[in-house]
Amino acid sequence: MATRANFSSKLGIILASAGSAVGLGNVWRFPTEVGENGGAAFILIYMACVVVLGLPLMVSEFVIGRHTHKNTADAYRELAPGTPWVLQGYMGVFTSWFILCYYSVVSGWTLKYLIGAVANEVTTLTDSTAYFTDFTSDPWLPVIFMVLMMLLCHQVIVRGVQNGIERYSKLMMPLLLLIIAVLVVCSFSMPGSEEGLRFLLKPDFSKIDSGVILSAMGQAFFSLSIAMGCLCTYGSYFSDDARLMKTAGSVALIDTTVAVMSGFIIFPAVFSVAEVAPDAGPGLVFITLPKVFQMAFEHVPLIGWFFAVMFYLLLLLAALTSMMSIHEPTTAFLLEHFKMERRTATWIVTLSCIIVGVLCSMSFGPLKDVRFLFGMTFFDFFDYVSAKIFLPVGGFIIALFTGWKLDRQLVRDEVTNHGMLSSALFPVFMFLIRWAAPIAIVLIFLNELGILG
Ligand code: TRP
Repeated sequence: MATRANFSSKLGIILASAGSAVGLGNVWRFPTEVGENGGAAFILIYMACVVVLGLPLMVSEFVIGRHTHKNTADAYRELAPGTPWVLQGYMGVFTSWFILCYYSVVSGWTLKYLIGAVANEVTTLTDSTAYFTDFTSDPWLPVIFMVLMMLLCHQVIVRGVQNGIERYSKLMMPLLLLIIAVLVVCSFSMPGSEEGLRFLLKPDFSKIDSGVILSAMGQAFFSLSIAMGCLCTYGSYFSDDARLMKTAGSVALIDTTVAVMSGFIIFPAVFSVAEVAPDAGPGLVFITLPKVFQMAFEHVPLIGWFFAVMFYLLLLLAALTSMMSIHEPTTAFLLEHFKMERRTATWIVTLSCIIVGVLCSMSFGPLKDVRFLFGMTFFDFFDYVSAKIFLPVGGFIIALFTGWKLDRQLVRDEVTNHGMLSSALFPVFMFLIRWAAPIAIVLIFLNELGILG
């Protein structure tokens, strides 16, 4: 067999994995959750979830991927042949394909807004709500932007692991981090921004209840890209001397920093414009922020324009690097399992996601009356099933698999690079993955289904 693709450097490994983690989840979902759940108190709990649950699961996926150097489905087949665990591998591949179908729709919106910002449209709106709903309910326009984002992602994936994913992550991630720094400065320099800062830094522990703790866990999973084959697939491209725990630590650090910084960008800016009440969900970045940019534009046009362009560029870069990591698991599976050419495998994933993505995109317009269970549109259905069902179930199975099924020595060898690295943290890791993670996930799951809390 020809040698398998690998990331070529440790920096490439970290930036590609961080690219997967840093996404729409960081820039809009996190600030929204913070706003709804008690500011700094939520941030502290979120961080605890990242360390106690997110990190062990991330390391587990790396262990499974790196040990086998195979796509996610074949990795489980190699580690537990002929057992039901194999299904988890297929499920990871399927979930990533499924998520891409709707993630690409919101990614398309970011492209539309970036172009709108450059053209000075977003900064001069009279009604940002109408702008958003007119755009998303248009039958074809959002589809076109979704397809454009898929084609951009396709261009990267088709170039392969080193020339595609690694190269573009190394370009886009530093740019993304630079933009974050610039935007924090922009936001802080807006008059009245202290109000937003105070909101973010003042912990309101009275808002903390079991529901909030469980939301923090759910957010940590989504943000770290856990449980759908992305990290396992990337892990399979790690070299044998990569340090799994250290890599997971760096990725979690970058991801959390970007999330917190996004809060520092959004809230001071939103609060500095007193008339603007923060919106929840996608509205925060697609409806509330345009109002902020427009106010800034009225004061100093160049700054308002620059702020808007940089912000949507940030959102687009974050979305694109995550899309790459969601595209690759299925592509790698088709490529290796069915011995396809990379080009063919990539096209199959791109085209099939576009076809289903059209349904998700149109569910804001022509298909908005097509409803599934519980009155969900296509988009809501895809979002709900993946984030609330596949993700916790996948995380649960991965924790059990690593903690109870895999040979302990195998896991230890991967985590310590066959004894080259210190094993001091290994017992802690094993404890978390065997007990803390499965129990916590069962709680999240019950909560998200509305059975608890
Ligand atoms: N983590 C990304 C974000 O914050 C999204 C993402 C990429 C993801 N891969 C994932 C979410 C795997 C869950 C599982 O937007």
